[in-house]
Amino acid sequence: MKDINCQKYPIVFKSPWSRVNEIIDERRYSKIFVLVDTNTSELCLPLLHKEVNASLYTITIAAGEDHKNINTCQQIWSSLLNNGADRHSCLINLGGGVIGDMGGFCASTYMRGIDFIQVPTTLLSQVDASVGSKLGIDFMNVKNIIGVFNHPQAVLIYPGFLNTLDYRELRSGYAEVIKHALIQDPQLWKDLQQIVDLKEIDLSGIIYQNVAIKKEVVDKDPYENGLRKILNFGHTIGHAVETVFMKKSSPLLHGEAIAIGMLCEAKIAELKAMISVDHFKNIEAYIKRIYTNLPDKLEDQDKILSLMRKDKKNRDGEILASLLKGIGSCDFNISLSEEDVKLGLNYYNSIIKS
Ligand SMILES: NC(=O)c1ccc[n+]([C@@H]2O[C@H](COP(=O)([O-])OP(=O)(O)OC[C@H]3O[C@@H](n4cnc5c(N)ncnc54)[C@H](O)[C@@H]3O)[C@@H](O)[C@H]2O)c1
Ligand SMILES: [Zn+2]
Repeated sequence: MKDINCQKYPIVFKSPWSRVNEIIDERRYSKIFVLVDTNTSELCLPLLHKEVNASLYTITIAAGEDHKNINTCQQIWSSLLNNGADRHSCLINLGGGVIGDMGGFCASTYMRGIDFIQVPTTLLSQVDASVGSKLGIDFMNVKNIIGVFNHPQAVLIYPGFLNTLDYRELRSGYAEVIKHALIQDPQLWKDLQQIVDLKEIDLSGIIYQNVAIKKEVVDKDPYENGLRKILNFGHTIGHAVETVFMKKSSPLLHGEAIAIGMLCEAKIAELKAMISVDHFKNIEAYIKRIYTNLPDKLEDQDKILSLMRKDKKNRDGEILASLLKGIGSCDFNISLSEEDVKLGLNYYNSIIKS
């Protein structure tokens, strides 16, 4: 598999460990830090220690989205400062999207920016979060509201890390794969239909194709002025649903909420005659086949709507979404009325257990 070169950094598939050693040799870092969470510390860090020919200073944080906040950033910045990180130090972010987004943000702001390398270890971060240079944290219950755009030195993709990921996390990350196929790649969508059991397949090829899709979109519009917004398909409703469920006894993983969002937003596209009934039925059946654990009902519709009104993509108080206009094709900046959203949510409520 050839590496994929984004405009400013490589995404390395072939021999990621030789490449990280080359970067370390070339850049002659004063000190190398690795950011891990309690899970990747145990499951992924031993391999990095084995493969990287340099001493690594580890910073460990608690795992999970709940910790993607300014308090944890303070912990990371303090560890860097207390342990002598200077402008020639490097931070390797070894973990899922939380580690990548927050570690990249901390590296980009520490001493106005030190080098960092992304080593994503979840399906979600390998196919999505590690590509495209968006970094940030949650603040006041709003996801990713504080952050920057900044490029890593490299992104290193090693699919072997996924072997320890539990099935629910794997399936959650797979939502971004479904999204990429639906917005950009009809052939990939066809290929995905053949997958019977996610656990049983080698995901390397799929990861590669997904990185290629995301790279193509972000290279054309790095700062999300237009086209890049198509990557938000499923996320306008999905993010709001994710937030509402955060406070419940059984929260949803990001990709599970996005699966719901894609289903509702595809229904809205069908109602607006942007996609055919057959295409919609195909999408609905596939999402229901993969996500067998979705909640029966989306209550709190007013709360979902009020969260959607705060979405970063909106303008002048209008809810703007990215909607499919076919399989493998997506339009952005489509205005959604309250009525549209309710039709999508009510449709979900009517079908999910049928
Ligand atoms: N920057 C972007 O463009 C972008 C895009 C999509 C998502 N995101 C962000 O990504 C985050 C979600 O990413 P995520 O799903 O990877 O979350 P995560 O980082 O919380 O990882 C999920 C869980 O898996 C564990 N884990 C990680 N690697 C493992 C491994 N190899 N084996 C076993 N367990 C492992 C983690 O410790 C965690 O408990 C969200 O914060 C979201 O906002 C960012
Ligand atoms: Zn997402």
